[in-house]
Amino acid sequence: MKAEVLREEDFRHLKLLMALSPYKPFASYPGVSVKQSLDYWYKIVLKNLIESKLNKIFVIREKGNLLGAIFIRYLKWDSKHFGFDMAEIPFCLFLNQNYSASQKIASVLLSKVINYSRNCHIRHLAVKVDPQHMDFISCLQRKRFKLVATQVVYYLALNSFKAVKKKYSFSIRPYEKKDWLKMSFLARQAFSQREYWLDRFHADCSLPNDKADNLYLRWLENCIKKIEADKVLVAELDGQTAGFICFRINKDINKIFTVHFGQVVLNAVSPAYRRRGIYTALVNEALKWLKNKNVSLATIATQMSVVPVRKTWQNLGAHLGGAQLVFHRSLKTGSK
Ligand SMILES: CC(C)(COP(=O)(O)OP(=O)(O)OC[C@H]1O[C@@H](n2cnc3c(N)ncnc32)[C@H](O)[C@@H]1OP(=O)(O)O)[C@@H](O)C(=O)NCCC(=O)NCCS
Repeated sequence: MKAEVLREEDFRHLKLLMALSPYKPFASYPGVSVKQSLDYWYKIVLKNLIESKLNKIFVIREKGNLLGAIFIRYLKWDSKHFGFDMAEIPFCLFLNQNYSASQKIASVLLSKVINYSRNCHIRHLAVKVDPQHMDFISCLQRKRFKLVATQVVYYLALNSFKAVKKKYSFSIRPYEKKDWLKMSFLARQAFSQREYWLDRFHADCSLPNDKADNLYLRWLENCIKKIEADKVLVAELDGQTAGFICFRINKDINKIFTVHFGQVVLNAVSPAYRRRGIYTALVNEALKWLKNKNVSLATIATQMSVVPVRKTWQNLGAHLGGAQLVFHRSLKTGSK
């Protein structure tokens, strides 16, 4: 059994393999049909495939059909930030066969990607996988990928959402230039506290901690520059920046789906001002803004361990949209 680069004549079979996968993006959301989900996924894969010449899909063929396919995608932003080449595996698909046959296919595909990465000097691989994709997870573990995070996504239908009308002891207003210094301090503090927040970058000991801290600052900067967000709100108390929330309308996705998605991208409250309802108020304001812009479904991705985020969204009536286990593998010199 051999994995080879996807050829033009394989595309039709690739789409079939994707259609058979139970892990299609957004497929479990209300108002999203299986066809829309598949069309969206296929379109994104084709778009991502041509982003970099390092991006490749490897497949295993048998009698003109595909037994499996794996996608490796170069991560330009992450590579620049951490100072070495990094990539992700957006999917590893295989025909649902018996356990040992699936393991064999997954193993051949993963080995191919690891060898390819080494040849291209890619030193770090990341994979996000549905917790139910057990065949693939066992294979990742055998290939020494380490579990670094458990992510969950919540969604809230905004048609019945009504923002709470309440007088707060703090104010909520749009971001202004003068906020940057205090806000960047807040972000660095909030996302480097391991007892409250442990993302996949901080949890991976092959990645330097200061770079993981700085990643949030760069992310926040990109939200403010409107690259990653449409709007940034700040909570102010006693002249201090107590919290912030960055959110956006998912314009690209909304071109395909009939439901209109909006997303909370980044949010935090200063440790000094927590448990006073500031986050709850920021989320309410963000949802109000999104609803006014005709967003019908608002989402947030977080770590499963972050109780206040889960509580806030569940209190609002949000549902669990999905979960992903995140695995990393370092391919630095010396690691086998
Ligand atoms: C998550 C975070 C923004 C919450 O901010 P906050 O202003 O303290 O949250 P709130 O006061 O609005 O509380 C929201 C809910 O969570 C509960 N809560 C807050 N902190 C909690 C904790 N440590 N443990 C359990 N429940 C908690 C509150 O009681 C409230 O629930 P209730 O309304 O049912 O009583 C803040 O803890 C934080 O910045 N954490 C680090 C960064 C982070 O996780 N960001 C979110 C990324 S998705």
